[in-house]
Amino acid sequence: MCGIVGILGKGAVASHVVDCLHRLEYRGYDSAGIATLENGHLEVCRAEGKLRNLEIKLSRHPLNGRSGIGHTRWATHGKPLERNAHPHATRRVAVVHNGIIENFRELKQGLLDLGVSFISDTDTEVVAQLVDRELLAGHAPAEAVAHVLPRLRGAFALAFLFDGQDDLMIAARRGSPLAIGYGEGEMFLGSDAIALGPLTNRIAYLEEGDWAVMTRAGVEIRNEDGVIVERAVQIVPAGALLVDRGNHRHFMAKEIYEQPEVIGHTLGHYLDLSSDTVNLPELPFDVKGVRHISITACGTALYAGAVAEYWIERFARIPVSIDIASEFRYRETPLADDGITIVISQSGETADTLASLRYAKACGQKVVAIVNVPTSTIAREADAVLPTLAGPEIGVASTKAFTCQLATLACLAVALGRANGTLSADDEQRLVHELMETPRLMSEALKLGPQIEILSRTLAKARDVLYLGRGPAYPLALEGALKLKEISYIHAEGYAAGELKHGPIALVDETMPVVVIAPHDHIFEKTVSNMEEVAARGGQIILVTDPKGAQAAHVDAVQKLIVPEMAATICPMVYAIPVQLIAYHTAVIMGTDVDQPRNLAKSVTV
Ligand code: F6R
Repeated sequence: MCGIVGILGKGAVASHVVDCLHRLEYRGYDSAGIATLENGHLEVCRAEGKLRNLEIKLSRHPLNGRSGIGHTRWATHGKPLERNAHPHATRRVAVVHNGIIENFRELKQGLLDLGVSFISDTDTEVVAQLVDRELLAGHAPAEAVAHVLPRLRGAFALAFLFDGQDDLMIAARRGSPLAIGYGEGEMFLGSDAIALGPLTNRIAYLEEGDWAVMTRAGVEIRNEDGVIVERAVQIVPAGALLVDRGNHRHFMAKEIYEQPEVIGHTLGHYLDLSSDTVNLPELPFDVKGVRHISITACGTALYAGAVAEYWIERFARIPVSIDIASEFRYRETPLADDGITIVISQSGETADTLASLRYAKACGQKVVAIVNVPTSTIAREADAVLPTLAGPEIGVASTKAFTCQLATLACLAVALGRANGTLSADDEQRLVHELMETPRLMSEALKLGPQIEILSRTLAKARDVLYLGRGPAYPLALEGALKLKEISYIHAEGYAAGELKHGPIALVDETMPVVVIAPHDHIFEKTVSNMEEVAARGGQIILVTDPKGAQAAHVDAVQKLIVPEMAATICPMVYAIPVQLIAYHTAVIMGTDVDQPRNLAKSVTV
């Protein structure tokens, strides 16, 4: 949540700071601000709402400083008003912050007792005031920050700019990521490398507890014990820094249509087509000895895990328990000695997923992370990483990251089955061939776009939508409902089709669209019975199925979205496409902000 940028530049930096903030807008977009040094003095410009509003303000009152920090906010403490927008500044220091200062109330009270007054409702202003008092007491900026950091509790990333110090910026990381960018006679700071894409591809990541004193000549990084440390400078490949919509109106559309390609990359990473086997990297535990698997994640990543539960139990016959990370981390669940934990995260920074990883490790478990951002905290802290090769996902609603998580989990499930002796070499070969069909079938499913666009005109009028599925299509029903809710703001619920009669059927009437996800498999007939129950109550059914399912579904009032017939294993990935397109087109018709839906942020680090 929240994006941070800092530049010590050669010329005026304001427009570059704003460009970088645009690349971080996916992290939060309810207000934004920038501070620069104008003739050596701090000047701040902030605006409520999207970055566009800040740009309008800056066009009226340009800032020309060569040093600047900027921020795009997802509100935690205090409403998204201008006075709560970052940077928070005193006469001596300006600060931008991502994360939460957990003990800010007691720190604030201490400052109030000393007669300090506050303008905002934020935790961040407390940091500005604490540093200000240190500066007032005569400490140099680095000393001032060094005195304040140990007093802060919580997870945060901070960047400071100081009045009268044109060649100085200080950054600190505890829990929230920060990347330092190297230029020629310029230095940069960002919440991630993507933010700095147009400026540099030479990046060093601060590690937990690090803080950095930056000048145009370079950076001095100290760890939390105050010892000077080196952090390797990496060259980030250009592709990883690319952020554009291509020919699409929204990032989400681009990311949906990119899926055949990125699924191909991800599968290509794990499948060895010369031997028709799955090749995982060396894992730091004996795969044969795994008797239990706990999966934990949040949101869409959790639903990818829920699909994997079916695969792992079927292929490897290993019992799986799946848990929401924000529950898992606090439940103190006992973890089996002969078990492993799998965490799944696109960003690799989700606070609850990270805390779950740490809990599992503290219990002595090996943790495998399925992550899209290879430099993320979760990737660094896990015992083993299985990367998803989806590339940067900018649309706040996760699409290609989800299907790449599924592809990776399918490969893992096959590898576990093979190691456990529950899949034969022939089974593995067959599954590898089936998986390799996924990109082609996804391309076919994308052809449903125009039909779904028309259908979405009806959906856009609905107040509530129900999604039903059985087996692996059940988590997909949950994912469909989540996607529709988050970008179109239409209330939606996902249910296991067999649960319909245990309550939700009471909601069904002629105003209620019911999306049924049902490949023609061994439980298809059961789902047809559920559709009949819906039809009998006037519900409008939208059936996502294959040609055989379409023929076999003799139910009234059914609209059909037909994908090609395919092996059961790959259905969740291919059926995800119509599910995503339904949400996308409905949101477009509703006129919502598809890529940046209200109240959400891409990376939930608090
Ligand atoms: C929904 C969505 C969220 C994320 C969740 C976890 O479209 O994007 O539900 O899936 O916040 O995020 P990551 O995968 O970054 O841990």
